[in-house]
Amino acid sequence: MIDDLKQTFLDELESIGNPADLFQLRVKYLGKKGIITSQLKSLSSLPSGERPFFGKKVNEAKDFIEDQLDAKEARLKNEELKKQLLAESIDITLPGKYTPFGREHPINKTLLEVVDIFVKMGFSVEEGPEVELDYYNFEALNFPKDHPARDMQDTFFVSDDVVLRTHTSPVQVRGMKKRKPPVRFIAPGKVYRCDADITHTPMFHQVEGLMVDKGVTFSNLKGILETFLHQMFGPNTPVRFRPSFFPFTEPSAEVDIGCILCSGAGCRVCKGSGWLEILGAGMVNPAVFEHVGYDTEEYSGFAFGMGIERITMLKYAIDDIRLFFENDIRFLRQF
Ligand code: DAH
Repeated sequence: MIDDLKQTFLDELESIGNPADLFQLRVKYLGKKGIITSQLKSLSSLPSGERPFFGKKVNEAKDFIEDQLDAKEARLKNEELKKQLLAESIDITLPGKYTPFGREHPINKTLLEVVDIFVKMGFSVEEGPEVELDYYNFEALNFPKDHPARDMQDTFFVSDDVVLRTHTSPVQVRGMKKRKPPVRFIAPGKVYRCDADITHTPMFHQVEGLMVDKGVTFSNLKGILETFLHQMFGPNTPVRFRPSFFPFTEPSAEVDIGCILCSGAGCRVCKGSGWLEILGAGMVNPAVFEHVGYDTEEYSGFAFGMGIERITMLKYAIDDIRLFFENDIRFLRQF
């Protein structure tokens, strides 16, 4: 009879597939009112001679059922875990999700390099408007009324006395009006000229520089610019100053470096001269100081200005300025 019970239990156990049902089966056999429990209780109603034998049988069955239940429980738990692990598994053979990396535009890269070098020499950074009064763009910089730069051919006019600034030099005037000497700043930014070919675009970038104090001389200008050019193009780059003319500086100079493409031997880019023109510079014309109210007896200063596109083109041997603004990713990715 007990053997039948074991067989029935085994059949029931066989059909069970989850822990909840298994628990119910445990209760059914071993619970307070379970089959085995009631068998044990019924021992007392047996004749005393039969008790030991029957008792032993029931206890054996109890141990057997307990063992079977425990074993099955372990198996079910194991299966469950396997299922869970399988469901949560990640396919590590899939390629990762690629996020394209952005980078600085070559023009901004050069611009920031220039700014960085001057900031390290103690210059601060000044900004001015791109839509500028004729007064700041020309008048206060000592451009005569009939100067060709004021011509419709070069300048974008917004109205009779408002222009798109044609250079960053007006920031000199705005910067000086804001403060008293000593002043030492650079002014990077966009400028506009009505011009378009492989070396000119209607919008381009310049960095202006200005330093005013008591006793500032042309040799200060040379020292600062040579330091800058050696940082920018390498410590052995030859630098030369040529006399030139700008209305807002006197004397004025154009500054060349030895051609970085042919090392001075002469090539197409330097037009055989071995030199590349890099910036304009000079001592601030006292006429400009008059406009900002600086005492021309007490103060002197120097100024300089350079084109960022040109420097970038030379640095990376790019022969068409328009490449910078076509936004062809294949071009921009190379920097
Ligand atoms: N503003 C001039 C230009 O656009 C560049 C320049 C020349 C700036 C001499 C200066 C300077 O400050 O001193 O061509």
